[in-house]
Amino acid sequence: MKRLIAPSLLSANFGKLHEEIEMINKSEADWFHIDVMDGVFVPNISFGFPIIKFIKKSAKKPLDVHLMIVDPQRYIKEFKDVGANILSVHYEACTHLHRTIAAINELGMQAGVVINPHTSVNLLDDILSDVNMVLIMSVNPGYGGQKFIENTFTKIDRLKSKIIQKNTNTLIEIDGGVDLINASKLFEVGADVLVAGNTVFSSKNPAETISQLKNI
Ligand code: DX5
Ligand code: ZN
Repeated sequence: MKRLIAPSLLSANFGKLHEEIEMINKSEADWFHIDVMDGVFVPNISFGFPIIKFIKKSAKKPLDVHLMIVDPQRYIKEFKDVGANILSVHYEACTHLHRTIAAINELGMQAGVVINPHTSVNLLDDILSDVNMVLIMSVNPGYGGQKFIENTFTKIDRLKSKIIQKNTNTLIEIDGGVDLINASKLFEVGADVLVAGNTVFSSKNPAETISQLKNI
């Protein structure tokens, strides 16, 4: 099991974005987590291509892009062009998920599928062998700083069994409400990657908090 940390820039101070990126570069973080919201799939709007391009210019670690947008297949090439390394789309937003995942892989990116808190991991049985990662939302997507949903532990456990049974290398990423209290249990039950927004960026020493999460 890997123990990767992906700070979510949604909670960063955009007035000093370059410094925030440098902090992550120098920290023990593994990926940059980038949340794209369209105001339709989720009630919030975040940022788009120009900001991601700016991040890519200074980022020395992979960009893990989480699309909270309807019909994400419309923009796969654009996200590749601005520098996404891992591109994750919501199960609930894709009518032809298999085709969308294939298109992401064909452009040379790692493909992830994201499930909302109400979506069962059982629905992934016929796509699991095709994705590089499953992102389990541990809050309802749209905002940083929300309360962690405890049922996530059961979902990770169930998904991990399926991954072991199918003998795939699929990573499990957890996003929402991750903190220094639940992080160790999340890794123990089978998470490989933890996203953390508020926990990192509201901390007095974000780099130290990243280190604590990683070595918990
Ligand atoms: C929520 C986003 C998350 C968010 C996590 O819709 O997908 O990545 O930034 O923020 P925290 O860690 O504060 O819950
Ligand atoms: Zn996210």
